[in-house]
Amino acid sequence: SHILVLNGPNLNLLGSREPSIYGHKTLTDIQQNLNSIAKAESAELTFKQSNAEHQLVDWIQQAAESDVDYIIINPAAYAHTSVAIRDALLATAIPFIEVHISNIYRRESFRHHSYLADAATGVICGLGPSGYEYALKAALQHLNNNDI
Ligand code: DQA
Repeated sequence: SHILVLNGPNLNLLGSREPSIYGHKTLTDIQQNLNSIAKAESAELTFKQSNAEHQLVDWIQQAAESDVDYIIINPAAYAHTSVAIRDALLATAIPFIEVHISNIYRRESFRHHSYLADAATGVICGLGPSGYEYALKAALQHLNNNDI
């Protein structure tokens, strides 16, 4: 199985960005951890980050052509603003899990709504960088068992 992990704006700054909210792990740390889990499960993992909405939309569109089975996405701030990313995910019809490192529900009210959440298989938020790992395990379980 092939899993695509997408990261939105400012997540390239993880490690130094507001560490009291996002912790000290870098995006490379997260990527390496996911790579080792995927390797142990003989799954293919593609990991990407962009600050640009159009780039994320393009990658989601291309996922259908490259036989991606599952998408894990931390849309970052675009969760709260982007109808375009929602539309791209619905267009590909690839199941996805939304991840947020922080608990968006205990932060500013503008973070309480996500344009993606109701279209996701599930949402993981507030569990720190480990949320990506839980999402990958859930996606692999879903794909291996062919159920939710
Ligand atoms: C975030 C939460 C968003 O509200 C914020 O804009 C981010 C990161 C998280 O992972 O906690 O950039 O998606």
